[in-house]
Amino acid sequence: MTQLTFKQKAEKHWTPERIGKVTGGKKFLIDPLKGAELLRALGLLNADASMPADAVRKYSQINHMVALLAPTLTELSERFSVVRILDCGCGNSYLTFLLAWCFKNVWHRNALITGIDTRSDVIQKSQARANELGLADSLRFEKISVLDYFARKAALASPEERKSSRNHVIVALHACDTATDDSLALAFAEKADAIAVAPCCQAELAGRWRKLSAEHFKSAFSVLLNSPELRRDSCSTFTDAMRVLLIRGQGYEATTTEFVPSNHTPKNRLIVATRRGNYQESALREYVELKKTLGAGIGLDERLLDEASEIIRQLQV
Ligand SMILES: C[S@@+](CC[C@H](N)C(=O)[O-])C[C@H]1O[C@@H](n2cnc3c(N)ncnc32)[C@H](O)[C@@H]1O
Repeated sequence: MTQLTFKQKAEKHWTPERIGKVTGGKKFLIDPLKGAELLRALGLLNADASMPADAVRKYSQINHMVALLAPTLTELSERFSVVRILDCGCGNSYLTFLLAWCFKNVWHRNALITGIDTRSDVIQKSQARANELGLADSLRFEKISVLDYFARKAALASPEERKSSRNHVIVALHACDTATDDSLALAFAEKADAIAVAPCCQAELAGRWRKLSAEHFKSAFSVLLNSPELRRDSCSTFTDAMRVLLIRGQGYEATTTEFVPSNHTPKNRLIVATRRGNYQESALREYVELKKTLGAGIGLDERLLDEASEIIRQLQV
């Protein structure tokens, strides 16, 4: 008896009824039949092409995540013949693969997506998977930290080199602690057209608040400042609020949204921003006010460029 290929197994398994069951009747970008090989490589399909019950939620989440970014990415693909995307702290590169697959199979546009991470094992695995899935033309992986990548970019000699390698989109999903701000600083320096970051384990402001608490700093937020539990939670919200203001101050429209439609992770906030070009002094002013009230700001404010840093410096005087 001849063995069915995985594609044939998927064709046999994914009847319209079964598709409707896992999509809840919605039109998902990554169809379980068309995207079967991708979903199998990402560990979301069994060897017989069926979807394990515990993968259905993840499947719905990844579709939601790509759908959030889709309008921005398709808009950029109208402006650039090849959309360049950098995934900072790509880890197992789920998003990287999903985007590369959608560019090729759904939007039929060209993209060059680079995933960077400090771990060599995830980089090797991701590169092998890209070859396996026939996506190696649009995917690159490199073991490098966000900061080193940034430094290498800054050292490029000519403006032409910088322009031709400029990333149009920078994403960082749950990149650890200050890697989120490293990615934002890089995005500002590159004048990336779009940014999406889902912050993770941010401890910088909490550390500054801990110190202020020890120094008996008094503010309207003393109760948050002096309780380790409340401090951790509120600092992560204040950090993101400050990030949004600094992003706006750099000429972006920025909003926060729920990253995945689930309440199973507290790290569920996605900041999405689109560059419009005009520095928003009012956002920087708001940032400085908030910093004064909270007693501390985030390190990202010292890494802003040109006009924005000058405005902040003057507002703080
Ligand atoms: C929690 S994982 C998230 C992976 C992936 N973005 C996702 O959402 O599934 C964080 C990843 O960021 C990487 N990372 C942490 N700090 C980094 C840095 N400064 N530069 C590059 N990668 C970093 C870690 O090695 C890890 O793979």
